[in-house]
Amino acid sequence: MKIAIFDSGLGGITVLSEAIQKLPKEDFVYFADTLHVPYGTKSKDEVKAFVRQSVETIILQDVKALVIACNTATSIAVNDLRSTYEIPIIGMEPAVKPAVEMNRSTGKRVLVFATPLTLSQSKYSELISRVDDHHIVDSLPLPELVQYCEQLIFDHATIEAYFQAKLADFDLSRYGTVVLGCTHYPFYRQILKELLPDHIQIVDGGEGTVKRLQQILQERNLLNQHGRADITMMCSSQDPAYVHKMDKALQFMLKGRITS
Ligand code: SIN
Repeated sequence: MKIAIFDSGLGGITVLSEAIQKLPKEDFVYFADTLHVPYGTKSKDEVKAFVRQSVETIILQDVKALVIACNTATSIAVNDLRSTYEIPIIGMEPAVKPAVEMNRSTGKRVLVFATPLTLSQSKYSELISRVDDHHIVDSLPLPELVQYCEQLIFDHATIEAYFQAKLADFDLSRYGTVVLGCTHYPFYRQILKELLPDHIQIVDGGEGTVKRLQQILQERNLLNQHGRADITMMCSSQDPAYVHKMDKALQFMLKGRITS
């Protein structure tokens, strides 16, 4: 049986690449809802329906666990999905808690990048009220970064100019950590690292999500003993060109460069 990884588009590839490295004996099916990407600028009801529709297709594959590798989809639909399906469903959460912990003694602030829809949800405001006891967390919506990623735009000049414009009003010396609260954003970790002052750490939720996946599979005795990280790529538009794009994005995450 396979582990399914789902996202609106290419973002979940950042989680898939982490999962392949941590769980090399597992087989994976990756599903992108290419008919409806991006989710982060749509309405809550629309996204809820798109996620439901996608998961109905995914579940027809032989899957033993589902990772909702999309912060936006998780914040809108994970509870609903968990009450509908019996397989384990693992969602994403912006890594705000570890970021706040990291800055407890530094006196620095935390800056969370995410989609507008993620930032407007009660799941996010509840997370902030739970963990941000000293009110050190600020947030910045970066919807255009999802679009750049979907077009495989990784060139330094374009992305640097974008970040510089978005960060122009922030005094970065006051920040200790940047949280990548959308799975599309880790594609830009290296560019961001080069751009931000050295003292700022960059964190994302991918590693924690894969750890949780591993733990759940272990608890339920569902981990593969043999296998070779076989990957099936699927998308809702059934477009072979997009499947090729997914392969390229995975190579970028695994090798750090785009191959033809
Ligand atoms: C998007 O589809 O807008 C990105 C979703 C996400 O990873 O939050």
